[in-house]
Amino acid sequence: MAPALILPSPPELSHFRPEPVQTLHSKQPILLTVRPNLNKAPALELPGLYTKPSAILLLKYLVHLTLLPPSWDGPPADTLVAPPGPTKWLTSIIASPLHWIADEETQEQIWNSASARLAERCGRTAMPSTTRTFRIPLSSETLELTIHEPTLTADNLGLKTWASSYLLSKRLLQLPLPHFAPGARILELGSGTGLVGLSAAGMWDVPVLLTDLPEIMPNLRRNVDANRAILKSRVDVAVLDWRDDAGGRRECEKFDVILAADPIYSPEHPALVAGMVDVWMKKGPQARAVVEIPLRDGFGREREGFKECMSAKGLVVMEQGVETGFDDWGNGEVQCWWSVWGWDERCLV
Ligand SMILES: C[S@@+](CC[C@H](N)C(=O)[O-])C[C@H]1O[C@@H](n2cnc3c(N)ncnc32)[C@H](O)[C@@H]1O
Repeated sequence: MAPALILPSPPELSHFRPEPVQTLHSKQPILLTVRPNLNKAPALELPGLYTKPSAILLLKYLVHLTLLPPSWDGPPADTLVAPPGPTKWLTSIIASPLHWIADEETQEQIWNSASARLAERCGRTAMPSTTRTFRIPLSSETLELTIHEPTLTADNLGLKTWASSYLLSKRLLQLPLPHFAPGARILELGSGTGLVGLSAAGMWDVPVLLTDLPEIMPNLRRNVDANRAILKSRVDVAVLDWRDDAGGRRECEKFDVILAADPIYSPEHPALVAGMVDVWMKKGPQARAVVEIPLRDGFGREREGFKECMSAKGLVVMEQGVETGFDDWGNGEVQCWWSVWGWDERCLV
């Protein structure tokens, strides 16, 4: 018989909120059984349902099987896996009538928790909604932004946060951006969950307008509200569809800096995004557009198209580079190209 140990909490549980399960109380300490393995993460011995484990024990194991979203500050870590893996155990819970647990509400809680643990193991598209903390280093402190990501529905990619937005958020302070004059404003295109725009509002005292499609608005607003107390500047949220004709804007309606992370992933995006920069960026020597794009296989033509469209509008690259980041897709690692654009002097005379 393997020794019974109290399993330590998974690391970084502080920035993850599993669904609440602490509605049951027991006077007995509940012990989780662990098979020690010196080379790998300890393997959990999951209690067979034929042993009719108590509701409290099942819920404790289910909480422990929570898969944390990756931190994105390094390659994805190995997660706790007990051969043949918890998936079979979770499926057996969902299939079981749990007839030895009398309380229907508790049964429901166990099934829900097992379904959530199963969904976490089905890849990012099936991931249940999650709330993460992103830490953005500032000059003397760290900005901690709370970002909610609902379950992905349809092809609403803006409901998830993408690698280039975290990289761009951390890069913003080091970028060669001119000093913001009084009255300056920042616009973010395709904000998604809002990480980049919120980072800008957390580091500069310059109003920021976060924009995206209508279906992204509720979660974007939620994230703005969740972080408002720690932001330095005013943040607003608005629908801005790149396909809408926004021409004829007066100079006073325009922005000093435009930010966009991961906005180029379909053939029409290069012209649309360059068109937005042309319409919404002030026509001045200090104005800048900052764009970070993942170097995804199969999107080389779109990236080249973006450079051509920006150039055709009279924009030139002031500074650029490539960096590596992480997100929840594929093997986690992703190369991203960042670029800072300004008007060609010839367009300003
Ligand atoms: C890949 S996501 C990136 C989201 C966020 N910037 C990030 O990096 O986490 C692309 C974003 O562009 C937005 N988008 C796509 N087409 C758009 C359009 N026509 N008008 C406005 N936003 C659009 C999507 O809704 C989505 O939020």
